[in-house]
Amino acid sequence: MLDNVAPRVINEQLQSIVFAEERERINQVQSRQDEIDRLVVSYVVAAFRALSLRPEELDRLADTDYCRARLRELNLPQAKVWWVQLLAKIAANAEKTPADTGHADTMPADTEQLADHLRRELPFYDIELTIITRVGGNLARLIQCEGTSEIIRTLFADDLMTRWYTESVTHRIFNSLARETVRLLTEQTQSKPTQSKPLNVLEVGAGTGGLTSHILDIFDPHSTSYQFTDVGAFFLRSGRRRFANYPFVEFATLDLERRCGEQGFADGSCNLVIANNVIHDTKNLRFTLRNVAQVLAPGGYLLMIELTDPQIWWHMCFGSLDGWWRFKSDPGDDREDLMLLKVEQWYEVLAESGFHQTAVLSDALDIDFANRAFLSQVDGS
Ligand SMILES: C[S@@+](CC[C@H](N)C(=O)[O-])C[C@H]1O[C@@H](n2cnc3c(N)ncnc32)[C@H](O)[C@@H]1O
Repeated sequence: MLDNVAPRVINEQLQSIVFAEERERINQVQSRQDEIDRLVVSYVVAAFRALSLRPEELDRLADTDYCRARLRELNLPQAKVWWVQLLAKIAANAEKTPADTGHADTMPADTEQLADHLRRELPFYDIELTIITRVGGNLARLIQCEGTSEIIRTLFADDLMTRWYTESVTHRIFNSLARETVRLLTEQTQSKPTQSKPLNVLEVGAGTGGLTSHILDIFDPHSTSYQFTDVGAFFLRSGRRRFANYPFVEFATLDLERRCGEQGFADGSCNLVIANNVIHDTKNLRFTLRNVAQVLAPGGYLLMIELTDPQIWWHMCFGSLDGWWRFKSDPGDDREDLMLLKVEQWYEVLAESGFHQTAVLSDALDIDFANRAFLSQVDGS
């Protein structure tokens, strides 16, 4: 249903679109990265101090048995072991290589002052700074809590996660890029979709609908079927409310860790799968990507946005969520330390999973920032 435009051609077409405002903001954020990192480190150090985890044992905490034993002694939840190890590494690295900074002279020493200073310097970065200060300011307590309900409450209060995926500087640029990609793909369709033979779009892990909200108006409502899916029923309820004005959108549960075909999504039935920051959340990347390849019609596309270089604040704020460590539950998955892959590794795993053509669309942005957007295609008939 989408014509056979190679991902590389879409990538070339994207080069002429400038995304000037988004890029400028990211450049400004990157010029303050040392201060943002310093803020995160101060929260981690303060939380460790409050929990009686000593600065001199930061390196030893890298040993999982040692870390588990310390958590036991301090009556802290064992399930937080990977997160605590990651936080200890962040603090230890900062101690060994203090940020070589252009802002050393002007950087406030006090944590709250530093946060205020960043809010003044980067007013458009307020969503990210709210996440950082909200989690950072409660870090010791969040480490102490069993399970993930407390961190989820903290992150989701006041629609913070919806704003994060929809409007934040970090995601806005990828949402704009995805929008332009979908526009280019649909504009170049010669064999127009019809009501009886619609364009079938499947969004997986759609969550808060941040990306969805940027692309829905591109589709012809009369000849598009858009499936908004997630493993979590909560997101389907909020999606139904948020996108009530789009009658061509349907909502369904879909767990990428189970064959799509067994969940009502037939093999070869979709023309475009959209996956924003979800594939890494699953326990076996190859299984998940093969699953996606199978649901695609011949020549169908996967538009995937994925983490390649998370900043340290992402580890502090999201590192206690199950998705960050899900890969550890599957010995068949080859990720070892972190759930993310580098760009070259994504290429490899995509190719091995049936996507023989892939372009890294975010190269068109000419920025190196946290995520990458990939457009991949399965072979045609
Ligand atoms: C990091 S969030 C991405 C957010 C989302 N794309 C947005 O714009 O809000 C990951 C999303 O993937 C979903 N998810 C996690 N594991 C999944 C699975 N096995 N199958 C489908 N979705 C999953 C989560 O429920 C969550 O909504």
